[in-house]
Amino acid sequence: MTGFSYHDSTLACDDVPLAEIAQAIGTPLYVYSAGIIQARYRELDEAFSSHRHTIHYALKANSTLAIVRLLRALGSAVDANSGGEIELALRAGFIPPQIVFTGVGKSPDELARAVVLGVKAINAESAGELERIDHIARHHGTRARVAVRINPDIDALSHPHISTGLKTNKFGIPLEEARQLCRGLRMHEGLELVGVHIHVGSQITTIEPLRRAAAAALELWSDLAADGIRLEHLDVGGGLGISYDGTLVPTAAEYAQAVLSVLESTELEVLLEPGRAILGPAGVLVARVVDVKPQPGGYWFVVLDAGMTELLRPMLYGAYHRIVPADHRPEPEVTCDIVGPLCESSDTLGAERRLPLPHVGDLVAVLDAGAYGSVMASNYNRRSMPAEVLVDGTRWRVIRRRQTIDDLLACEE
Ligand code: LLP
Repeated sequence: MTGFSYHDSTLACDDVPLAEIAQAIGTPLYVYSAGIIQARYRELDEAFSSHRHTIHYALKANSTLAIVRLLRALGSAVDANSGGEIELALRAGFIPPQIVFTGVGKSPDELARAVVLGVKAINAESAGELERIDHIARHHGTRARVAVRINPDIDALSHPHISTGLKTNKFGIPLEEARQLCRGLRMHEGLELVGVHIHVGSQITTIEPLRRAAAAALELWSDLAADGIRLEHLDVGGGLGISYDGTLVPTAAEYAQAVLSVLESTELEVLLEPGRAILGPAGVLVARVVDVKPQPGGYWFVVLDAGMTELLRPMLYGAYHRIVPADHRPEPEVTCDIVGPLCESSDTLGAERRLPLPHVGDLVAVLDAGAYGSVMASNYNRRSMPAEVLVDGTRWRVIRRRQTIDDLLACEE
């Protein structure tokens, strides 16, 4: 069976009990299901099959090498957001025409590397950046393939910290300005305009902002076509949300239907940059209970060996993740705050949760932590980065070992 489910009363990933892995390599750790990653990638790919498209998996969601290699084997390309992610993609076996490079503050070195490699597109965020790319490309005697990232002033109706498409957000170029700018690019010998890029936010759980974003990209494409400017692709970014609490969210098919209903009239290749929609449900954070503290008023603090250093989303965005016992005991439920070990009162993974009271030593799993989990982990309080495990059916392997104290100090005097 693929994914996370209880076998009798024991939570397993595919066919492997989480307790078996935790027993072997300790906690905290991330566990991913290769089967879920494959299924979610294929579902999205098939949903867009009626139109020429390429999935550029957004590395920022999870860039552990083995995961990235798995996506490559499935046929994915990538969206990189830093020089580090470009190098990681190359090491995972991608070639430059499979890489798009996005990012609101690309450094001169990062731009030069992308230009010299000849990536599929550098998604440019401003007129100034286009000038700099032009300069670098001419210096290297080449032409850089660029796409213009537009800011359409669309509300993604997601959390404000992960919405990027409003004019008050730092991302992209306003639509009107983008039109003028693209017309002027013909004068730049170092630039080849190949696409339009848009990404209005993440964890978007309604279709309309995603449809409107595609429509804004189409609008710019048709204006440019009227001026005789031919593009190769429209990049509609990522953003499709997942259900963290069991409520219904748009399916891959509904998403594809909305985007393709707008773009099907064009022959252009459609680029997609999903991250969370593929990886989110494919991973859990497994932690052990290190203390259980009764509080006046009949509720409890359940202290785990994982907190904001392993999974920052609840603290940074007030994000909700289901937290479940790895071994289900038929005991009455109590109300508890499930907290981490860090010296911060905000170090709460889940407030006011109803659970059978865990005992010290029990394991719990924080669900839907495959995207923006391990990548946002930190060494605060000199804590080691957690281990990561990939499960494939009945087999599992460590794809990233836990950091040691020597790893932690390796860069220091
Ligand atoms: N493309 C671009 C240009 C992006 O900025 C992002 C995400 C994506 C694609 C992928 O978006 P997705 O399909 O995963 O929604 N740390 C936050 C999420 C930040 C997303 C930033 N950009 C979180 O934990 O919710």
